[in-house]
Amino acid sequence: MRLSAPLLTAVLLPATTTAQLHQLAKEAGLLYFGAATDTPYQRERAPFPQSYSQYDAIFNSPTEFGQTTPTNGQKWLFTEPSPRLFNFTEGDYVADLAQRTNKLLRCHALVWHSQLAPWVDSPDANWTAPALRDAITRHIRGVVGYYRGKCYAWDVVNEALDEDGSYRKSVFYNVLGESYIPLAFAAAAEADPHAKLYYNDYGIERPTSNKTAGARRIVELVQKAGARIDGVGMQAHMHADVHPSEAELVATMEGYAKLVKEVAFTELDVRIEMPVNATNLAWQTDAYQNVVSSCVKVKACVGITVWDFYDAFSWVPAVFPGQGASLLWFDDFTKHPAYDGMVQTFKKLAGVRKGGRDCKQKRRVKGN
Ligand code: G3I
Repeated sequence: MRLSAPLLTAVLLPATTTAQLHQLAKEAGLLYFGAATDTPYQRERAPFPQSYSQYDAIFNSPTEFGQTTPTNGQKWLFTEPSPRLFNFTEGDYVADLAQRTNKLLRCHALVWHSQLAPWVDSPDANWTAPALRDAITRHIRGVVGYYRGKCYAWDVVNEALDEDGSYRKSVFYNVLGESYIPLAFAAAAEADPHAKLYYNDYGIERPTSNKTAGARRIVELVQKAGARIDGVGMQAHMHADVHPSEAELVATMEGYAKLVKEVAFTELDVRIEMPVNATNLAWQTDAYQNVVSSCVKVKACVGITVWDFYDAFSWVPAVFPGQGASLLWFDDFTKHPAYDGMVQTFKKLAGVRKGGRDCKQKRRVKGN
């Protein structure tokens, strides 16, 4: 049988020539497209035994994902379960995986009200301000010091804001007021002078919300205190039916970029009211495409991380019953339409950052 030229090319091309997200993100001028992951012990149960090897094959591909974040393993609960007793087993799993599969590592999260070790937020703790300041500083020195040189970025303070943009009444805020925030950034900067230091939160993706204003206030607070802050992480846990437009995302990032060098989408997922259908998958595709196009258009946006990539391992259904299918691969490992949507958007915008399209337009105008 004779193969036609296009068919022959398709058969002979190595698998790596298929467009994959990280590769396309780089071509569009971003630093990375990544996926968070977890240790096998922490994951939700996979639907089929063979899911794990299929999962690993996708995750490991350096052209699909060029960055990863541990979804759980570096949190206080795991890293300092008892005072001064550090344990890096869970965090190391993902840090080592990142190294083996050639991915940047975003490290997550140092000071957060959730998944704290019980000794930190137990009502019996009876913290005095100096004792809690010492505990925060020691924790950050211990964890950031251990991972020094391995983290592209650290989420230093996570979710310090309430829904209305005021400070969340965490143990840290209740004892120390807002001063715990610059304290944490100063300690992290000292422990790893090269890691980019981020404030990270959800619901800070729209330009005019009180919470977005709160995130900008936090950046200014840290800067006024003379500490280093390099970036704002928009977690971007979105809903398919109501999601920010590209213009809103661009405006939000431009607002942050006036204050900090970097912004990133750090925990992207787009949840659907189950069951999936053509309509909600189209909404979801639009949401993912808006993230991609806005990130490419704002120079400060360094990258996009999905909060895992396989629906079966998503946190969403356990927390929001009736919602799910928020990631890029369904339980049976077929891809969501959002995957191809992002591929198209990246391809369309390749070169925009380097001035490709603008230059061409300028040339055309001159030629006229
Ligand atoms: O430890 C058990 C483990 O033994 C068991 O195998 C597993 C499966 O049932 O459950 C394990 O504990 C769960 C843990 O995730 C690991 O899966 C906890 O019950 C569960 O509460 C915990 O949820 C994590 C959540 O943070 C906690 O708030 C999610 O995995 C993690 O994806 C999620 O991530 C957060 C970010 O850190 C911050 N932004 C919001 C985001 C989503 O909530």
